[in-house]
Amino acid sequence: MKILLTGFMGSGKSTVAPIIAKKLESPLVELDSLILKSAEVQSVSEIFKNFGEDYFRALETACLESALLEENIVISGGGGVLFSNNNLEVLKKADIFLVYLETSFDVLSKRLASNNLVKDRPLFQDKEKARELYDSRLPIYEEAANLKVTTDELSPSLVAERIIKNLNC
Ligand code: S3P
Repeated sequence: MKILLTGFMGSGKSTVAPIIAKKLESPLVELDSLILKSAEVQSVSEIFKNFGEDYFRALETACLESALLEENIVISGGGGVLFSNNNLEVLKKADIFLVYLETSFDVLSKRLASNNLVKDRPLFQDKEKARELYDSRLPIYEEAANLKVTTDELSPSLVAERIIKNLNC
C-alpha cells in the first residue's frame, strides 16, 4: 500500500509518518530529505535562494515519482506537493491513499515558531503571505484527500492511530 501524508507546513507530517511506517513495517520516505539529497544541499532555503522555487518543484516531482515506484511506502510530503506540475495526476495514477493532516493556522504557526522551524521554510517567512497560501490551499487538500485527520487536539501517536484505523488493510 502507498500512503502519502500531506497538509500545510507544521501539520506534523514528518512526525506522524515514521510512526505509521513502523506500525505497518513499511519503508518511509521523507520527500524533502530526498530532495536535499538529490540536490546535494543542506537546506530547502538554499535551493529556493540559489535556484528558485520552480527548480525545487521539479525536484519534488521527480522525487515523488521515484518514491511511488515502491509497492509499499509511507511518504511524508512537503505541504506544497499537491500543487505543482502534474503531481495530482501522478498521485491519482499511483493509486495512493492520501491523508490530509488538517491543522489550524494558529496551531501550526505556534508549532513552527516554538520548534525554530520557520527558518528553513521559505514560504513561511512572511506570516501574512503564509496565511494567504494556507487559505488558498485548504480546498485542494480537502478535495484530494482520502482521509482528513484534524490534528489540533491530538498527539502524533493518536493521529497515527486514527490513520491506521482508516486504512482498511
Ligand atoms: C513547502 C513545504 C515544505 C517544503 C518547502 C515548500 C510548501 O515542507 O517542502 O519549504 O510549499 O508548503 P513542510 O510542509 O514539511 O514544511
